[in-house]
Order: sequence, then structure tokens, then C-alpha cells
Amino acid sequence: MKLRVLFAALAAVMALPAAAQDTVKIGAILPMSGPFASYGRQIDNGMKLYMKQHGDVVAGKKIEVLVRDDTGPAPEITKRQAQELIVKDKVNLLAGFGLTPNGLAVAPLITEAKMPAVIMNAATSIITAKSPYFVRVSMTLPQVTAPMATWALQNGIKKVYVLVSDYGPGYDAEGQFKKTFTAGGGEIVGDVRVPLKSPDFSAYLQRIKDTNPQAVFLFLPAGEQGVAFMKGFHERGLDKAGIKLIATGDISDDSVIDSEGDAALGLITSHHYSDAHKSPLNAAFLKGYAEIDPQMRPNFMAVAGYDGMALIYAALKKTGGSTDGDKFMAAVKGMKWESPRGPVMIDPATRDIVQNIYIRRVEKIKGHYYNVEFDTFKAVKDPGKQ
Ligand code: PHB
Repeated sequence: MKLRVLFAALAAVMALPAAAQDTVKIGAILPMSGPFASYGRQIDNGMKLYMKQHGDVVAGKKIEVLVRDDTGPAPEITKRQAQELIVKDKVNLLAGFGLTPNGLAVAPLITEAKMPAVIMNAATSIITAKSPYFVRVSMTLPQVTAPMATWALQNGIKKVYVLVSDYGPGYDAEGQFKKTFTAGGGEIVGDVRVPLKSPDFSAYLQRIKDTNPQAVFLFLPAGEQGVAFMKGFHERGLDKAGIKLIATGDISDDSVIDSEGDAALGLITSHHYSDAHKSPLNAAFLKGYAEIDPQMRPNFMAVAGYDGMALIYAALKKTGGSTDGDKFMAAVKGMKWESPRGPVMIDPATRDIVQNIYIRRVEKIKGHYYNVEFDTFKAVKDPGKQ
């Protein structure tokens, strides 16, 4: 009897490593609390939705996601969590990264461990150049900004004031806008960088009003900041003064656009995803998302979480379930698939995503506000790498 118990215990212990080998563990580092918590919620929901639609077994491996909360822009926390996930939890892949400083922080670790890391938001161009084990399924700021500058030039906008968030993605947006816009004959009449955390827009808005540009080009990180800016722009009468607002789609992301309300009507933005995108795949995505999180409209981050899992599943199918860093990275290079945002591809040279960038206008439809796509720049690569 005792012997049998001992054998059973032994068998259980011995079964462990075998079971572990049949599992692919993904460590997802995301802001799940603090002012950027909606990023984590969106991305986590997107990952869950993909798994719900496609099952949790791929190439004979059970997929397991371990979520860690980085609390917001916190590179030190992210680094420690990545270390623990790799060493203690023995994950096979890393994913997530809502903010640029956090993505950058893990570059040396993943290079050392030869561990693939799928970036699901962080959008400063340089990140993917910091390790050959990064692949990005979100966007880069130069990629979404260049079409906005081109569109502005084509539509008679000649004098622009530039306002961006004072960190990596803001510098990328500012740099690319100025480059494309001035190369096409446009003039920059002023610029300002605002703090990443809790910016107070009143003084900036007044300065812009006094400068009286034809338009403001803007990048702010998605979420509540956009709501505050749009309200201020409207309340201080910049719109009534005839100043146009153009921006990357982060400002009017689908999860906050209803809170912006009428203040956002007519706003023109450039981005890779709108929940108003018309395709059967997007319709299925929206339906599935509503079942997972009925309180929230999915935005571009949810789509990146979803597509990140699509990429992982497709890569594992190609490698026969292997997560070996070099095999996995070889599998993702050049990969093409259909996303709820439209057709996408991983650029084999940069490991960044190639995708359509849409020009959209905010419209009110049946009591809700939407970014309605009306123009498309097809298969845009990250100009930040060129
Ligand atoms: C980033 O930190 O890279 C970031 C955050 C929010 C955005 C875009 C980029 O909307």
C-alpha cells in the first residue's frame, strides 16, 4: 500500500517535466493597473479572444499565458518581471509591452536568453532594432504619422503646430511629421512636448490659439489624455477659431471616443485600426470581444493582442511546436495573415508589421462615435527604418 502511494507520487513528479514540455508558456507583461490599465485590459482581452476562437492547443502544445502587471511606464519593474518569467516560471516566449520604455528594457534580456518577444503595443520605431528576438504586431509612430502629413499636404494644410508627448513615440511622431510635411512644402509654425504623466493642457492650448496655426498635429498616448485634450480644444474655442486638428488615431481610440463626444466630431486621424472597419473578420472580432468584455469597445491594442496570438500560433505550426528562438524568429519573418484591421505582413528585414494606414473622420452613427475610414495608404512599412 505504502509502496503504491510512493510510486504514484513518483509518477506524478516524473510526469511534470513531460507535461511542461507539452506546454508553451507565454509571459505577457502588461499595464494591468494605474493610469494605463486600459492597455493591459485591451491586449489581454484580445489574446483571450484569439484563444477562445482557435482553441488552446497548437502543434500538439497547450498554450498557457501568464500575465504580469508592470503598472505603467516602469522599465525596472518590467525588467524584473521578465527575469522572473524566464528564470523562475520558465516561459518559452514573452509578449505584451504597452509602453515604449518597458519594451526597450527587456532587449538585453531577450537577446541573452534568445527568447522571442512579441510586442503588442509599444510603438517607438527603434525598439525592434534593439534585439533580433523582437517582433512587433502593433505599429510604429512614423508608420502612422507619414500618411497623415501627406494627407494634410494634399488637402491644403500648409502651416502646422506640432504637439507631442515627451517620450519616444512622441519624438518619432514629431520627427516624421516634420520630415514628410516640410519635404512637401509645409511649414512648422511651432512645437511643444508635454509630459507623459498627467499633462495639464490649458497653457499649451492657449499658446497654440495665440500662434493661430492652420492646424495642430498631435500625438498623445491612447486613453484618457485624448479625452482631456479634445475637451480643452473645444472649450477654449480653438475649433471655433478655425484651427483644424489632425492626429494619429491614438487620440480618438475606439474605447474612449464616446467620452470625447461631440468635441471629436470631424476630427481627422491616421491609424491602422478602427472598430468601424468593414470586413467579415472584424465583424466576428467585435462580436467575440463583446462576449469577453461587454463594458469596453475594442481598440487597436485589442487587435494587436489578438494578432500577436495569431502570429504565435502560426509560427508554432511552422516550427512543429518548437519555441527555439532562432527557429521561431525565422518562422515569423515574412509571415502574412488577415487581421481584423486588414491584410498584414511581418517585414523580414525589420520584424515590424507592414499594414494599411487609413485616414478616418469622426462621425456619429446611431448615438455612438466612430473613426470612419475614408482613404487608405496601402501596405505601409515603418519609414523610421529607412
Ligand atoms: C508607447 O509607449 O509606445 C505607446 C503608448 C500608447 C500609444 C502609442 C504608443 O497610443
